[in-house]
Amino acid sequence: MQAPSLAELSSLIINCHKCPLSESRSHPVVGGGNIHSKIMIVGEGPGAHEDMSGEAFIGPAGQLLDKMMKYAGIDRTNAFLTNVVKCFPPENRTPRPAEVKACLDFLRMQYLLQHPQLIICLGAVASKAMINQEFSIMRQHGQIQEKKGILFVPTFHPAALLRDPEKKPLAYEDWKTIKKVIEEKGLRG
Ligand code: URA
Repeated sequence: MQAPSLAELSSLIINCHKCPLSESRSHPVVGGGNIHSKIMIVGEGPGAHEDMSGEAFIGPAGQLLDKMMKYAGIDRTNAFLTNVVKCFPPENRTPRPAEVKACLDFLRMQYLLQHPQLIICLGAVASKAMINQEFSIMRQHGQIQEKKGILFVPTFHPAALLRDPEKKPLAYEDWKTIKKVIEEKGLRG
């Protein structure tokens, strides 16, 4: 697969009608941050705030993510934030496998365009899509995975931490790992 330009890719996403989410969305959410950075952060799909604005990770989960990123010494100038599906699943439900399948080429194109060296997968949907279908976030969060020279670190989705704050100490350990990888590999630039 060849990577289109960023503008071409945004236009493909904005005009996409490949799955039913395109009928109910207000705005598709392409992604945000720095597409030229070495770090990619992948969530599940836009929430209600993101759907209203078209901006990635601006709601409560995004605000918690900003804090976790800050802990790891990064911000939106040196990471690119995107999602497995680009349109809001109604009632904030988990995207269906057919919706993930219909949208996955956009994530692949973003990946080809960015060439990240580290991919932080937020939650089960992103970890399954990016690492493998059998991935278990409860059992394998925080375990560094390497595929074709790219490092993947799976961790809890910030929305899951807001729902269940008891998981926060586990997530903190994962972000310690992320911070260490960023420092050791010099990925901030
Ligand atoms: N949750 C996500 O997975 N992505 C967003 O952009 C917002 C909330």
